[in-house]
Amino acid sequence: MGVYLDNAATSYPKPIEVAKSIYDFMINNGTSSGRGSYQKAMQSDFLVYETRKLIASLFNFNNPKNVIFTSNITESLNLALRGILKENDHVVTSSLEHNAVWRCLKTLEKDRNISITKVSADEKGYTNINDVKNCIKENTALVVFTHASNVLGTIQPIKEIGKLCRKNKIPFLVDAAQTAGAYPIDVEKENIDILAFTGHKSLLGPMGTGGLVINCNYNINPLKSGGTGGDSSYEYQPNYYPNKLEAGTLNVSGIVGLKEAINFINKETVEKIHDKEKELTKYALEELKKVKDIKIYGPKNNEDIVGVISFNIKNYKAEDVAHYLDTKHNIMVRAGLHCAPNAHDLINTKSIGTLRIGIGYFNEKEDINKLVTSLNNL
Ligand SMILES: Cc1ncc(COP(=O)(O)O)c(C=O)c1O
Repeated sequence: MGVYLDNAATSYPKPIEVAKSIYDFMINNGTSSGRGSYQKAMQSDFLVYETRKLIASLFNFNNPKNVIFTSNITESLNLALRGILKENDHVVTSSLEHNAVWRCLKTLEKDRNISITKVSADEKGYTNINDVKNCIKENTALVVFTHASNVLGTIQPIKEIGKLCRKNKIPFLVDAAQTAGAYPIDVEKENIDILAFTGHKSLLGPMGTGGLVINCNYNINPLKSGGTGGDSSYEYQPNYYPNKLEAGTLNVSGIVGLKEAINFINKETVEKIHDKEKELTKYALEELKKVKDIKIYGPKNNEDIVGVISFNIKNYKAEDVAHYLDTKHNIMVRAGLHCAPNAHDLINTKSIGTLRIGIGYFNEKEDINKLVTSLNNL
């Protein structure tokens, strides 16, 4: 199958149980959840609710009804940002955001006249908590931060930012795309009000799944209106979770796959997954350093990053190196801006992009060795 090192985009392979559970559901059940009272539909409801429970407990959250399903974290983030931010509000964000946050904020700047303060990070992607503090204004209505950069891997000081937000009574939204499943997250201890997750990265589930964990009472207006399977004569969206934010038929087959993915993670444990990825990241940092003319961006300490490493090779275009790795050695990495242009301002790579490896739980040291050997033969 070649060497897959693009787990930051989406994880591959998935645990076999994930594929099997989706197949089994589609063949043997296939009914909508929340829509029927016959036995199979009740079973479908049960599977969805069990998944809400698993997600809640993965993040040490005790209210499964406040776990909302979406089709990916882009939808989750749009839902939270558009659902909270009003005309003339101010928002504080990091300088590392993915376009899932950044483009949404820029659109709201045009449409709702919101103002945005981007907290500057240093060239390694470290954010100073005092800089966040200094950005808070009277009309700050939300703070939104990525948990870890998808370009530099740098883990952000979420707990401290959350504490600051609690003190100032400002909702705190965290983009956990690069951490959920591979890094321990505790919404209580880390003062996270709203956690956005995607199912297909380190949660090891199928594409088309994601959601929000809503650990607060701040109002979030729905992005969509429509059927919820109950209260049908009421002409507006119901005002309780999860129905308030889940209009339309859910992706039950995907959610069932996500359920098995989380069961797999729980069996392995997040700690074990985290330790393995951390060890591989340390190894990759050490081995990549030996490649001729390489420039590695971001922290060189594996304690401070997730399994994401960006680099360039002098005198080579990132796209050409990625093409060479793919066509000559069947090694899959990503080249470009990785949908996070602002992070490239920090490392002066906006015009050239970077090569990025995304290490996953199913990678081994051998994969890194093959990458390093191939880069040395460039
Ligand atoms: C930090 C971050 N946020 C958001 C996203 C968007 O994820 P999705 O395509 O699953 O919506 C990504 C994916 O690359 C990401 O890395």
